[in-house]
Amino acid sequence: MRLLVCTLASSLLVGHAAILAADHTSLQPIGAVASVARTAQGLRLQCADGASVTLSVLAPDLVRVRTLFAGQTAALDHSWAIARTEWPKTPFTVQENADAVTLGTGELHVVIRRAPLLIEFRDAATGRVLNADARPMARDAKTGAVGAAKKLGFDEHFYGLGEKAARLDKRRGKFTMWNSDTPGYVEGTDPIYQSIPLYLGLEHGVAYGLFYDNAWRSTFEFGHLTQESANYTADGGELDYYFIAGPALKKVVSRYTELTGRMPLPPLWSLGHQQSRYSYYPDKLVEHIADKYRAHDLPLDVIHLDIHYMDGYRVFTWDKTRFPDPAGLARSLSAKGVRLITIVDPGVKFQPEGGYPVYDEGAEKDYYLRQTDGTVYVGEVWPGKSVFVDYTKEEARRWWGDWHRTLTDAGIAGIWTDMNEPADFLDPTGKRHEHIRFDDLGQRTPYNGMRNTFALNMARATYEGLQRLQPDRRPFVITRAGYAGIQRYAVKWTGDNNATFASLSLNVPMFASLGLSGQPFIGADIPGFIGRGDGELLARSYQIAAFSPFFRNHTAIDSYDKEPWRFGAYYEGIARKFIKLRYQLLPFLYTTMEEAHRTGVPLFRPLVLNFQEDENTATIDDQFMVGDALLAAPVTRAAQREREVYLPAGNWFDFWTGAPVEGGRTHVVPAPLDHLPLYVRAGSIIPSTVAMSHTGEKPWDPLRFDIYPDASGAATGSLYEDDGLTSAHERGVFRRTAVSFSGGRLTLHSEGSHRTPARHFEIVLHGDRTVSAVIANGQSLASAHWSRTAKGALTVRIADDGQPLSLEFR
Ligand code: GLC
Repeated sequence: MRLLVCTLASSLLVGHAAILAADHTSLQPIGAVASVARTAQGLRLQCADGASVTLSVLAPDLVRVRTLFAGQTAALDHSWAIARTEWPKTPFTVQENADAVTLGTGELHVVIRRAPLLIEFRDAATGRVLNADARPMARDAKTGAVGAAKKLGFDEHFYGLGEKAARLDKRRGKFTMWNSDTPGYVEGTDPIYQSIPLYLGLEHGVAYGLFYDNAWRSTFEFGHLTQESANYTADGGELDYYFIAGPALKKVVSRYTELTGRMPLPPLWSLGHQQSRYSYYPDKLVEHIADKYRAHDLPLDVIHLDIHYMDGYRVFTWDKTRFPDPAGLARSLSAKGVRLITIVDPGVKFQPEGGYPVYDEGAEKDYYLRQTDGTVYVGEVWPGKSVFVDYTKEEARRWWGDWHRTLTDAGIAGIWTDMNEPADFLDPTGKRHEHIRFDDLGQRTPYNGMRNTFALNMARATYEGLQRLQPDRRPFVITRAGYAGIQRYAVKWTGDNNATFASLSLNVPMFASLGLSGQPFIGADIPGFIGRGDGELLARSYQIAAFSPFFRNHTAIDSYDKEPWRFGAYYEGIARKFIKLRYQLLPFLYTTMEEAHRTGVPLFRPLVLNFQEDENTATIDDQFMVGDALLAAPVTRAAQREREVYLPAGNWFDFWTGAPVEGGRTHVVPAPLDHLPLYVRAGSIIPSTVAMSHTGEKPWDPLRFDIYPDASGAATGSLYEDDGLTSAHERGVFRRTAVSFSGGRLTLHSEGSHRTPARHFEIVLHGDRTVSAVIANGQSLASAHWSRTAKGALTVRIADDGQPLSLEFR
């Protein structure tokens, strides 16, 4: 409690502290191009002032620009963010004239003007300028700050930047990258927990991406002070960026996640509903919560143990009084279909007097962060005085990962890493830490260049540790902070939000921005961490959370209990409706998460990701899409009972009634408290199943496909299935079913070697097609197998024997 107050106070400090990166005025522009040389991957420019610029073509739509200014020594060519460094050779052309050099790929023309040195990215096909330097790249030799300024389009929109407590379109905004512990953040609090220095520009339907791979504190301004340029500055390090050509936003996200890595396929249970609080103890209370869930017919897959399960907040220990038999608890919960996740914080209790093996081992092996004077840095977190591991050391990561055995041996299913900005009650701004040095592959890199990567490397240590400890299980790690690439190791929740409608209204823009920044597995504490909230907030929170991949109810130590039944039967009923809907839609959600894992394109999408040609969608951040098929228009204001919904052009169906709804316009629709306006895009086929109490309760039977034909009478969809738990899917043990409907005929065709148990398909045809006979694989189906529901949809029930199926509606 005392400490909570302490972190709350610190958030205020962060809000006001001067932690902005250098501004542009002190930067000296790079010299003009003096000579140009071809390299295996592109060009190397030598500048008159001694600077050099290397342009590398990694793919036709991906060019890296790495600049070394005069007097700057090159760091190792290594980045903690980058997952892929080897790229197939991409052909490129070079054209030179007196004024410029042009590096050409199949998709891009990079025009480099010699004096002053200005870089311009053009679409190879149309010649259209996608992005261009407004001023030469620059550096301040005294401070080491580097900067770039790009021209800003009058109609340009800006997306991405990972986790920002801000709206979807970042135009005219100014944002700092400096991982910060900011409990109770509100719209405008900046920076908060994560730093992803990636943004996507979109103008007139054409998109590109810019990823500045520099972990120093940096600032992005999208026409904040001038409307001429989008400015980037970092306090140190190299100006090292990747340009990604679209024109599709999806393509940019896909490339970016190829570069920085994609989310591993999560275990199915991690998409289930989860309950947490700061903190559940003793073990009997944890059992009680699980029992209550079952008694109240509320689905649940996971309970989280927050910091009080530990002995005096010492990581990798158990409080023996509160949890005398963790393995027994895990077994007993497992019988109820509930898994346990434990929190693991980076601060290791400073206990030089002995008696705490984790501290002793880390000290003996020299794994703790040291300062320039050689002393280990001692900060203050939950355990009191604490030290922090240097996760840039491979050995230290392995050691940390191995310590998770104390948890996995007890049957813990996943790890929640927290406070990894890293938080320090002595100084939340990081000023006090400037003298810390990270090993960083022997480079002894200053703290200011590494803070933002701390969580990434801790999550990596955790993820890889779980992989070693349970080689056949998909690791599940949750994180609060992160840097580019964090999606390879951990899922993200948006930290200590408030139990307020203002905070709830940030869900859509934050989740959508995180998805565009490569992180598809995201969620926020339901119904908000700080403050009491009320039943109405709970209801509206579940209406969004049911569609956010990480689906957890959590609350602060001093907050009233927030399990759904605490708000009374009426509100609990609304929560139940949406938790059950979540479980019904699991086949669709899991399929869409598999797509995110394979392509990088997130499940939770801003409308603009699916409809970037429709200018109306560019700034919509109070509606969202789930994959390609569902559009939700949640309510995030108290007492609001109707709202406007914009449906892009095309036909739509009301999810609840199956009624057709016209696209290409805004509708005013009722939104009573128990209702989420939810629409299906015509042309979609959505797989679903029956609600269940947890993801492993029973097989998906019947497996239902809802067909929503478009104007031409066609629809497509897919279903991805595997064992939901192991890595067998990497060896082809999955079943991917392509479902398509056209000309009155539905075909289902599966690939992969995963065998699903004998079950039934339930096929529901929406729309107004008149049907007098149903023919299955050439045989007329007895009318007992099909019927029209009251809502007018036609339902067919048929056995799934794993073989291709063709169903004709005549
Ligand atoms: C931080 C986390 C919060 C957790 C608390 C105690 O505030 O963000 O989720 O409950 O620490 O561990």
